[in-house]
Amino acid sequence: MRGGHRGRMSTCDGGLISNVGIAGFSRSTEPLGRNPGSLSIPLDMQKVVLITGTSTGIGRAAAQRFADAGWRVAATLRSPELATELGRLPGVSCFRLDVDSESSVREAFRQVLEAHGRIDVVVNNAGFGSVSVHEHSGDDTIRRQFETNVFGLMRVTREAIPIFRRQGGGTLVQVSSMVGRVALPGYSHYVASKWAVEGFSESLAFELRPFNIRVRLVEPGNVKTQFYGSKAGEDLARDPAEYREFLSRCREVAARAGASGDAPEFIAETVFRAAVDSGRRLRYPVGRNSNLLIFLSWILPSSLYAAILRRQYRIP
Ligand SMILES: NC(=O)c1ccc[n+]([C@@H]2O[C@H](COP(=O)([O-])OP(=O)(O)OC[C@H]3O[C@@H](n4cnc5c(N)ncnc54)[C@H](OP(=O)(O)O)[C@@H]3O)[C@@H](O)[C@H]2O)c1
Repeated sequence: MRGGHRGRMSTCDGGLISNVGIAGFSRSTEPLGRNPGSLSIPLDMQKVVLITGTSTGIGRAAAQRFADAGWRVAATLRSPELATELGRLPGVSCFRLDVDSESSVREAFRQVLEAHGRIDVVVNNAGFGSVSVHEHSGDDTIRRQFETNVFGLMRVTREAIPIFRRQGGGTLVQVSSMVGRVALPGYSHYVASKWAVEGFSESLAFELRPFNIRVRLVEPGNVKTQFYGSKAGEDLARDPAEYREFLSRCREVAARAGASGDAPEFIAETVFRAAVDSGRRLRYPVGRNSNLLIFLSWILPSSLYAAILRRQYRIP
């Protein structure tokens, strides 16, 4: 165990414990009923993953998936004091990280390095989105969308790169979306943010390849998470009379999609596979809707593809 492991760290109940080793790390030597993978892996050979946005949904499920495989998981979230259950998972330790804040990102990476000594994989998962119309969205709300989904992801990525370079490699898993490849009605700002993530990551992969840093784009379809009831996006959506019907149709489809979406655990499996793949694959579409929509947009003329969507949404 490295000396850094004795540093101060945030536990998931929000307290700060000093000189206790790594909460998650030391727990991995406890009875491991839910963590069979780590039984056979010596502590100093366990890989370390840092995941953003682990309070719920895909990030939470990914933390569990990596922990089950015997990884040391630095689960980062805005409010670690609320994540008592997450912090009890073997192999998981929690750190405060708000991707909107440069100082928060920097401090979280410092603490994770101090606690674990290395980082092998970073999963950029934090994000939100909601139905809105552009005409009635102010600069502040649009900026907020990009602040988290794009600039936050870029910030975390920038912090990870020098660590990966020093270690001789690493993997960035960007949780994008099927709407990073196709557009859906009513989500123009969210779609724009995910297209930005896709373009950024595809280009970045070239500049990081010489350093043995892999970039992955995981592209889920509809996933049953709090995304569809996200408070973060609520004030992005206003209901001006002239768009009322359009917004209501978009919300109807979104609600149905959310209710019937894939389980976050299913997406977490792909996040994990993308992290451990040894090849150079960039994109991992995952889920029925994602594969279908991307395929349709690929093979159909764009006018026909748009007509199918308009029909599904019952919009003119
Ligand atoms: N659900 C879907 O259908 C779907 C489909 C494709 C892609 N995705 C993408 O999957 C990712 C995870 O979403 P989800 O479906 O799991 O939704 P979710 O359950 O709402 O989880 C979103 C997570 O992001 C965190 N977050 C939001 N803003 C943050 C910030 N500034 N700093 C740090 N964390 C922040 C949230 O933390 P708090 O608890 O603090 O708010 C939460 O942990 C997102 O990037 C989303 O765009 C979702």
